[in-house]
Amino acid sequence: MIPGDGVGPEITDAVVRVLEAAGFRPKWERILAGDAALKEHGTPLPEELLDSITRTRVALKGPLKTPIGTGYKSVNVTLRQHFNLYANFRPIVSLEGIASKWSGLNLLVVRENTEGLYSGLEHEVVPGVVESLKIITRKATERIARFTFRHARRARRKKVTVIHKANIMKLSDGLFLRVCQEVAQEYPEIKCDECIVDNACMQLIIRPEHFDVLLLENLYGDIISDLAAGLVGGLGVVPGANYGDKCGIFEAVHGTAPDIAGKGIANPIALLRSAILMLKLVGLSKIGANIDRALREMLREGKPTTPDMGGKATTEQVARAIIEKL
Ligand code: NAI
Repeated sequence: MIPGDGVGPEITDAVVRVLEAAGFRPKWERILAGDAALKEHGTPLPEELLDSITRTRVALKGPLKTPIGTGYKSVNVTLRQHFNLYANFRPIVSLEGIASKWSGLNLLVVRENTEGLYSGLEHEVVPGVVESLKIITRKATERIARFTFRHARRARRKKVTVIHKANIMKLSDGLFLRVCQEVAQEYPEIKCDECIVDNACMQLIIRPEHFDVLLLENLYGDIISDLAAGLVGGLGVVPGANYGDKCGIFEAVHGTAPDIAGKGIANPIALLRSAILMLKLVGLSKIGANIDRALREMLREGKPTTPDMGGKATTEQVARAIIEKL
């Protein structure tokens, strides 16, 4: 368990309480990372954390602050690269009781998590000129495409849309698109189409039901997941998972929400739903389904909700209401 920065400790505490009330009571190894770890241990990524995840192969993670423009490399990116968590999995599902412009949506955003522009390869060529390298490899693209189509087959999804900008980045995005289309041939029952990323943004706003599974490289995936979260109620409710072949790290799509940190009003639902994905991975789907049912029932009844959902409740009150339903 990584409590995280900003609203992290508030939402992780609430989520742990719900999980334990539902019968999931592991021996938590609570380990700091990010800004909190830097202040406490002098490093944003303590060895103890890497050892713990190597051993347990699963982590529930609060958001971590990344300094803007200067400072240490994102711990989020480092963890994903270190554990080869190549698939970032973000279900975009409308829930009854969560106000949003759209209802009945059930999309899935799958983002390649280890390369693209997040490779961190940047340098100053001469003062005033900076180069940032976008890495796309056949190997990593095949891996994320196979993950996506395998999942789509298992979940009986109908279509995968590859999102790209291959009209401009003909080599890098061109390779990503081509390899995804090659892998798609192995899954003839799933339709594979493609969409240029700027057009995809507009299509998602005006007719999101046109999409089913969206497959993207790292940067587009990061941006489109926040956009898609906005279609179903915002960052406070959308879950996420980072999967590799050996382990999984489960975290909400959102960040540390510095504007509301410490106020006790952060929405715990996104992290709770990420924890439900974690329970599925560790073979405790039943507990996850019970929590999901309690959450949906609580939402259908309309109370209590945190300010991001238009309510006045605190993180703690939302957690308590879900526990009562359980
Ligand atoms: P953010 O996601 O933290 O906040 C964006 C907006 O959404 C804010 O208005 C915030 O109040 C709201 N929001 C986010 N989570 C919420 C919740 N649970 N309940 C209610 N409202 C919520 O994005 P921002 O401000 O761009 O990033 C802040 C920090 O978080 C940065 O240091 C960034 O690097 C980091 N970050 C970390 C992530 C991670 O650990 N996976 C992901 C995204 C950002």
